[in-house]
Amino acid sequence: MSNPPLVPPIKCQGIKTKLVKEIANLAGELPEGRWIEPFCGSCVVALNIQPKRALLCDSNIHIIQLYKDIQAKLLSPISIKEYLKEQGEQLRIIGEAYFYEVRNRFNTKPNSFDFLFLNRSCFNGVMRFNRFGKFNVPFCRKPDRFSPAYITKIVNQVQTISRVITVSNWEFKVADFKETLAMTRPDDIVYADPPYAGRHVDYFNSWSEQDETDLAKMLSQLPCRFILSTWHSNEFRTNQKIEKNWASNKFHVFTMAHYYHVGATEELRHPMLEALITNFAYHYVADRSEEQQQSLFVEQQRAHYTSV
Ligand SMILES: C[S@@+](CC[C@H](N)C(=O)[O-])C[C@H]1O[C@@H](n2cnc3c(N)ncnc32)[C@H](O)[C@@H]1O
Repeated sequence: MSNPPLVPPIKCQGIKTKLVKEIANLAGELPEGRWIEPFCGSCVVALNIQPKRALLCDSNIHIIQLYKDIQAKLLSPISIKEYLKEQGEQLRIIGEAYFYEVRNRFNTKPNSFDFLFLNRSCFNGVMRFNRFGKFNVPFCRKPDRFSPAYITKIVNQVQTISRVITVSNWEFKVADFKETLAMTRPDDIVYADPPYAGRHVDYFNSWSEQDETDLAKMLSQLPCRFILSTWHSNEFRTNQKIEKNWASNKFHVFTMAHYYHVGATEELRHPMLEALITNFAYHYVADRSEEQQQSLFVEQQRAHYTSV
């Protein structure tokens, strides 16, 4: 795995760039089957783990279309560079109004180029759609957003994921998590990173109590290994669902402090203890470096949740 982690071309809430190393360590050697993500988001985890075979799904049609377009080379490093140079220049000359012109264009007839433009020039790099499925994040208020250096950075990010996709057998699919989990086989491994209930709610990203319950039920009955990301606690509260859904000793709960940079409110920016929950025990592997061994999440003792 690359250090620092490889960065994908799009940003989204809850992006796990800072956790990929821990997720990779916990996953250990990948099984013969597929790396499956029912909530792939930016795809940063797959990009860094680089499984040979993967099924990467999300309910957000724009994310999946972007990666399908990169895979089909309809969006390439060369074409995105040309596009961003031209559109970035318009933004520089016309200013804020141009951002909204692109946003209207995208909301009328979505395409991956405009999606990337909006994602990389909207306020705080968040991804939010209103109840009609329209992108509604305002402008970041920087007309010269697409400087040559910034364009190069994005082009390199497209190039990196494009290279990885080209040498791998990855399938991208718009799917609800239930559909994705129903496709698992014993030799697969699942990494599930659902929205955190009540935190980022939008058209593609609403998450109910029922979803949480259904996900826990389906994961606990999977025929293969899984790793679930969730929040453990912050200074205000503790995630009661961990105790409720994962109390059995068939499951393992690991935690690690993680700081959220993306968030509309002050509460979302508070330090948060992240949890990774698995249905397999973490085993010491001799060829992991000292640093890798030490950076692992701390496994929590159930019932009273103190670190071991
Ligand atoms: C926390 S984000 C995943 C972040 C991702 N692991 C990353 O590092 O970029 C959750 C994702 O779940 C997707 N999602 C929300 N509800 C879903 C559902 N019912 N089925 C499938 N995907 C869903 C959202 O569109 C969002 O991309």
